[in-house]
Amino acid sequence: MDYFFDKPIANFATRRVEAEEKVTGKGKYSAEYDFPNLVHGVFVGSTIPSGKIASLDLEEAKSIPGVIDIITHQNRPEVPGLKGDDAKFMFKLFHTDNIFFDDQPIALVLAETLEDATYAATFVKAEYSESNFNTNFHETKDSQEPEDIMDEKGSLESWEKAEFIVDQEFKIAMEVHNPMEPHATIANWKDDELTLYDKSQNVYGVQSQVAKIFNIDPDKIRVISEFVGGGFGSGLLVWPNTIAAAMASKHLNRPVKIVLTRPQMFTNVGYRPESWQRFKIGADENGKFLGAFHQAKHATSSHTGHTDNITGLTRKHYSFPNIKTEQAQIQLNISKPTWMRGPGDASGAFAIESAVDELSEKLNMDPVDLRLKNLSKTDMYGKPWSTNYLNECLQIGAERINWKQNRKSNPGEIKEGNWNIGYGMAVGFWNAGRKDSDAAIEMKPDGSIVVRSAMTDIGTGTGTAMQNMAHTFLGLPKEKISIELGDSDLPYAPTQGGSWGLSSLSGGVAAACKSLKTKLAEYAYGSKFIKGQGNLKLLKLDAKGIRMEDDSLEPVSYESIFSQNNIQVINIEESSSPGKEAEDYGFCSSAAHYVKVKVNQLTGDIKVLEMVSVADGGKIINNKAAANQIIGAAIGGIGMALMEEQKFDNNHGRLIGNDLAGYHFPCNADAPMIDVSFIDKPDYNRNPAGAKGLGEVGIIGCAAAITNAIYNATGKRMRDLPVTPDKIL
Ligand code: MOS
Repeated sequence: MDYFFDKPIANFATRRVEAEEKVTGKGKYSAEYDFPNLVHGVFVGSTIPSGKIASLDLEEAKSIPGVIDIITHQNRPEVPGLKGDDAKFMFKLFHTDNIFFDDQPIALVLAETLEDATYAATFVKAEYSESNFNTNFHETKDSQEPEDIMDEKGSLESWEKAEFIVDQEFKIAMEVHNPMEPHATIANWKDDELTLYDKSQNVYGVQSQVAKIFNIDPDKIRVISEFVGGGFGSGLLVWPNTIAAAMASKHLNRPVKIVLTRPQMFTNVGYRPESWQRFKIGADENGKFLGAFHQAKHATSSHTGHTDNITGLTRKHYSFPNIKTEQAQIQLNISKPTWMRGPGDASGAFAIESAVDELSEKLNMDPVDLRLKNLSKTDMYGKPWSTNYLNECLQIGAERINWKQNRKSNPGEIKEGNWNIGYGMAVGFWNAGRKDSDAAIEMKPDGSIVVRSAMTDIGTGTGTAMQNMAHTFLGLPKEKISIELGDSDLPYAPTQGGSWGLSSLSGGVAAACKSLKTKLAEYAYGSKFIKGQGNLKLLKLDAKGIRMEDDSLEPVSYESIFSQNNIQVINIEESSSPGKEAEDYGFCSSAAHYVKVKVNQLTGDIKVLEMVSVADGGKIINNKAAANQIIGAAIGGIGMALMEEQKFDNNHGRLIGNDLAGYHFPCNADAPMIDVSFIDKPDYNRNPAGAKGLGEVGIIGCAAAITNAIYNATGKRMRDLPVTPDKIL
């Protein structure tokens, strides 16, 4: 197909376009904007997990100097979208005296300074009538049978008595996102227009949700999220801070800022829900998979649900003639979970990839060979893969860690003093999605351009990739290309999530670049030039002007283009959507993870010594940023496997600990140097850049690679994450 830009994107390891603003502190995160007359809001959370607010005593809090007002369910300003029983709780803030989870916001203290508001919040007194509650996932999960979530493929009976069967249960603890930047909002109403500085992965999403809640035209709301200090999925939805800030600003007719405290980050912005899985897999004596039966249950909130598609992966990367998947959500008196780092699949992969490892042992086959034998040839609907290099990922990874020589098939064979050494591996897989996305370009007479999109850059390198794409598509030197992002006044972009950001955005940027070339050619050479559009391919933008690569026409300077045509600026805006190819092919990104661990037989300590990740993310637009994503994801995988665990005190229905001192995650000393490499082959059926999503494939499968390595080191199967030292001993 003719994508017009037939040259692959140059793969530059350029520094980030926003690097200087970030490291000098010039770049502004949502909480860092200042306004005269700014009001500070601080949430007061409930101290029970279930029941009703019987009474509120606000007198003492209101008497603290600096306090302006306190919003509760008793005096909440009228907000149209918060009516109705079917509204989700997060939109029903201060709507009811019902308490659904511990630390649910019950009041917003508004004061002249953050200190005043924080201090006054400690004086808000609530009496409750408590109800029975339940926060215990594992004790409750058997109360609900999982249900079919997709049509069964083939039958369970046809293979469940096969000679080679693994049938095991797996558990994963609740994990929290907690990006470095806490969620924060500044809301500012002016007449009937609202501006929100809001930490988000999706400015258009916030705009449309808030418009619904306040029942106003989305065009009356501007959402700015120019710098985002990490998301991991916590920024995909609209949370109470956004609603409350907008509510309070309208109420006071002043700008209002709310920054969640670190403890509030554990209860107000979602998390990966605790889960249980059963995975049954069967194979014939040659290692051909016969069938999979995958059941999953996960915790969710009683007031508003969330489904993590834990069993979805079972239908994707392997070829199973028979598949049955079932899921259940277990409702508890807990805050709302949400998508987090490879949602669903990261959990599902732990079960699948652990079971496949166990099966390989039963079959007496190398686990890499077993996987290679069973990779799916089509997507779950039978469409051929546009590109799928999981096979290559597996083979390159095996070479890089020297799998065949280093790994011993008998567990516990390699010892160094009290330490046992083991090798393990697993794969990651993810739909390589693409969404509609627009982009705009503004060109000035000096030939400089600004490329604009509403998409946020959550640290993934979106802006840098846009610069790189515009540079490749146009030929224009990078110094002449600046980027603006993260503002709903800019052209439409989908959420920065699902690993589809760059894939989607490249369509808009490519379309805008093509359109800019067309415009410039028209201005320089007249409309005749445009007749044979193919010539545009030869048109290049350099620092001073445009020229034809084959010198078929005279070069023309930007200066003369602008002055001859009497224009001061050229403005382009273009839309893009997935093409017809999207219907003809299946799209995937994939990765193979290989790990070397050592396990101390006396203390149960586990150290990841080596990690090799080989990923297929299509054409890699920026090596450095892409590798950073995989490294970050792999470290998330170490956290999931060995450390991350948010526990409930089920007697009181609240979290045990709500800070980053008690919630363990890997630091530098816990992570080895991570060897990342890419297949780096374009998939032009996906988008004009040939890039497929990265990021999520980096974590999916990591935990199983580590537990498989622990098994290889110790002979102990770890099916309960995180694997803390006590589980080894
Ligand atoms: Mo990702 S969990 O879609 O931010």
